[in-house]
Amino acid sequence: MSIQSELQATIADMVGEGKGILAADESLPTIAKRFKAVNVESTEENRRAYRSLLLTTPGLGEFISGVILFEETLGQKTADGKPLPQAAAEQGVVPGIKVDKGTIPLVNAPGDLVTQGLDGLADRLTGYKEQGARFAKWREVYPIAGHNPTMLGIKTNAEVLARYAAICQSLGIVPIVEPEVLLDGDHTIERCFEVTEAVQHAVFHALHRHRVELEHIILKPSMILPGKDAPKKAGPQEIAEKTLAQLRRTVPAAVPSINFLSGGQTPEEATANLNAINAMAGNAPWQLSFSYARALQDPVLKTWQGKAENAQVAQQALYKRAKLNSVARTGSYTSEMEKD
Ligand code: 13P
Repeated sequence: MSIQSELQATIADMVGEGKGILAADESLPTIAKRFKAVNVESTEENRRAYRSLLLTTPGLGEFISGVILFEETLGQKTADGKPLPQAAAEQGVVPGIKVDKGTIPLVNAPGDLVTQGLDGLADRLTGYKEQGARFAKWREVYPIAGHNPTMLGIKTNAEVLARYAAICQSLGIVPIVEPEVLLDGDHTIERCFEVTEAVQHAVFHALHRHRVELEHIILKPSMILPGKDAPKKAGPQEIAEKTLAQLRRTVPAAVPSINFLSGGQTPEEATANLNAINAMAGNAPWQLSFSYARALQDPVLKTWQGKAENAQVAQQALYKRAKLNSVARTGSYTSEMEKD
């Protein structure tokens, strides 16, 4: 298969009607934090058991078309010895891999960050592909505070995202491009709009410079939200209106799918906001979907608590959130549905 048809086939498998992506790619420190909240020790065996639980959820493939894994998970197996990427693929869920190596401070832009991991990326991707990964994910983060993000930060992060995306495509791997404007802080929703517009404008300019084919990427942005500690809150209508307005200004119609991250919204908020966005989207040129980690997994972790006897109920919790987010893709979700 040519690289082009390989990329196209992966996009077709990932951008299913009513489906979204499960992000289960927490790095070692992040998964340790999530486990600690439910009193589970972050051992390799516990991480294997937990991710195996996620990927073997009966019916997962009805609502989930792709899963983002952490490097360690690519090499792990279910209790009966099946490689986890294979367990996902057998459910019709395309396995992918987070390939960035986290952030460091950006020199000469105090407060801004930049993501590491470009050196040797092509070699790593080749290995991940042999283990079953068909797409990748890279996240740049942008804190909103005072002068941040600076223009230097915005341009540098865009350049890194574009280099990553170009490398992925050259190897037949679909890149998820994730510029995350952080929810932390007390900024207004207007400030979030302004920052996100500048960020995405720079990202698409850089993707163009690096000749990345927009038909073969998935954009994973944050929604337009007021800061977590902002005195003035916003409801789903306003969030949807501003999120769509910002996307229309910056994201070319060639991009097949926009899969939001949840970024610290509660599971119910993330579903209600996605629903409002779809209800208002009209004939938007892109699919508007989800690629949630916390908003899909929080109820699962709370139910599981590291105990094998809770695994089945925990899987039902994942099935429910995946299903509700799938309904939100049609704009017909109501909070009443949470009670079922
Ligand atoms: P959240 O949905 O928890 O923000 O995570 C998505 C993700 O993949 C972060 O990189």
